[in-house]
Amino acid sequence: MGKELIIDQDPKSPIAEIFRTLRTNLQFMTSNQGLKTLLVTSSVPGEGKSWVSANLAVAFAGEGKKIALIDSDMRKGRLHTIFEIDKKPGLSNYLSGVSEVEDKEDLFSYFKKTNVEGLYVMPAGDVPPNPSELLVCDKMQELVEKLKNTFDMVIFDGTPVLLVTDSVILSRQLDSSLIVTSYKSTKMGDVEKIKKMIENVGGKIAGVVINKIPVAAKKYESTYYYGNHEESNKSDNVDVDSISSQEENTNIEDEILKEIEEFDQKEEKKEEEND
Ligand SMILES: Nc1ncnc2c1ncn2[C@@H]1O[C@H](COP(=O)(O)OP(=O)(O)OP(=O)(O)O)[C@@H](O)[C@H]1O
Ligand SMILES: [Mg+2]
Repeated sequence: MGKELIIDQDPKSPIAEIFRTLRTNLQFMTSNQGLKTLLVTSSVPGEGKSWVSANLAVAFAGEGKKIALIDSDMRKGRLHTIFEIDKKPGLSNYLSGVSEVEDKEDLFSYFKKTNVEGLYVMPAGDVPPNPSELLVCDKMQELVEKLKNTFDMVIFDGTPVLLVTDSVILSRQLDSSLIVTSYKSTKMGDVEKIKKMIENVGGKIAGVVINKIPVAAKKYESTYYYGNHEESNKSDNVDVDSISSQEENTNIEDEILKEIEEFDQKEEKKEEEND
């Protein structure tokens, strides 16, 4: 399996621990509402939706449950790369009916079993000309119902909200959405914007993940970020953490939010100066 699946490769690592905490937080927050379908989305590309959804799915599977991970980014989904599986047939083939599988209605013709016990991945499939249209069709509604009846938990890896409408469309069909942000790069204003866009269509927000936090950030070392971690193929000193929408947010979370706000203000000032 791919080296981005930290939690599978090194279950004792700090990052694996953080993903298990994120899983528990999601379970607690939504225990009364029965969270079964979760969308992972973000404002712009590259903030870590696919990485977070893949590792979170492994964390859920670790509990002995039957978990489906769906690549709903039919434009440039890459879950197949992360799990080292075929890209098709996948979601677009199921929704459009365009595929070579024998039984087109058999959900499991489109799923790939992974090395992680209980985890099934539906890759994105062939790139269709009309991804947003496929997501609003009745077949999609039916699929969500079928998935709910078949799996204990279904995680959808989505597209960036500010770029295409796919995730907003999906958010209203699923129980809740998790917003991934990238430390000191995602703008607070953008997070507020996508929160509103999702809520305007009747979608719910489960929480916000702050991804790609440098582990070297000295002041967090003893509290949030548990030391060094070598991972990923790109940057080797980043970590992930989550802010739940629960009330017990710790001071450190407020501190991070404050830092991000300050960063936003500095960026705005820079932009003004350039104008
Ligand atoms: N916490 C992290 N630490 C290190 N690398 C990370 C982390 N999160 C994501 N990455 C890397 O950043 C890159 C972008 O991540 P990813 O593909 O998950 O983003 P995305 O939000 O799904 O992007 P897109 O919008 O294009 O689908 C990948 O190379 C991934 O391995
Ligand atoms: Mg992605």
